[in-house]
Amino acid sequence: MGSPCLKYMGTLPFAAMPTIICEQIEQWLQDHRRSMQTQQRPQVTLCYAQSWDGALALSPDESLALSNAQSMRLTHRLRSMHDGILVGIGTVLADDPQLTVRECSGQSPQPIVLDSQLRMPRASRLSQSQGQRCWVITSAEQAQSVREDIDLIPVAIGEHGSLDLVLALQALWQRGIRSVMVEGGARVISGFVRAGLADAIVLTVAPSLVGGYKAIGNLGIHSRAQLPRIAPLHTQRLEDDLIMWGNLHYPGEAR
Ligand SMILES: NC(=O)c1ccc[n+]([C@@H]2O[C@H](COP(=O)([O-])OP(=O)(O)OC[C@H]3O[C@@H](n4cnc5c(N)ncnc54)[C@H](OP(=O)(O)O)[C@@H]3O)[C@@H](O)[C@H]2O)c1
Repeated sequence: MGSPCLKYMGTLPFAAMPTIICEQIEQWLQDHRRSMQTQQRPQVTLCYAQSWDGALALSPDESLALSNAQSMRLTHRLRSMHDGILVGIGTVLADDPQLTVRECSGQSPQPIVLDSQLRMPRASRLSQSQGQRCWVITSAEQAQSVREDIDLIPVAIGEHGSLDLVLALQALWQRGIRSVMVEGGARVISGFVRAGLADAIVLTVAPSLVGGYKAIGNLGIHSRAQLPRIAPLHTQRLEDDLIMWGNLHYPGEAR
């Protein structure tokens, strides 16, 4: 049987598209979640927007709006489909995001930040939020700091000098998080892929060329045989943005 998306491609009524694509992605995420139930860690979905040439932004320290209005609405729906939403401290410092569901109905996920040096500004919107308190995953040493604005979760530093992502996911699982949407930025996206911990991807490709700061950096890959692959592949257009989604598979994994 072919992709269920194929029957919708082409000339969908403008207003119908977001609902259809949301339902398709929700069903796909649920199916995938069921297949992961034995793993005892949250399902990790990468969700971000890039230009045709693979850039997230013009530079790491500034924000660039790439998605159109419908893709942005889809992003908010995707947030509501996950227990947690995770970004790196680089994204907090560059974008000052809220990470809430605002463009559609639905519950906001638990905000989570990876921040080994505890650079999280007290004045950030996540720290000041009247909603759910932000969880900041940090080193054991920094986790002893007194911070009334956020909850600190200690995790050991891994072999690359960053927070150990396996332990970070374990800590989230112990706190009841069963699914995490990883929204960025590049270093965090690359870290999850390099560790083989990104299970699925929903990518918005905006029709622009940016140069700039690429979404995925060095993965430590040296041959075609080592490439993570995406399958099955689903695609849909939201106006002039292309939405692509699929499961990530790593060489050597049981399929
Ligand atoms: N287009 C989009 O959809 C989108 C989405 C999000 C962000 N962005 C853009 O992305 C840019 C920011 O990206 P970025 O790469 O500079 O920062 P980032 O990925 O948001 O954060 C990276 C930082 O997270 C911390 N970290 C802790 N443990 C980590 C681990 N295991 N793996 C990776 N990082 C870990 C590190 O800081 P410590 O060493 O201090 O812990 C690291 O420098 C901005 O321009 C932002 O606008 C775009």
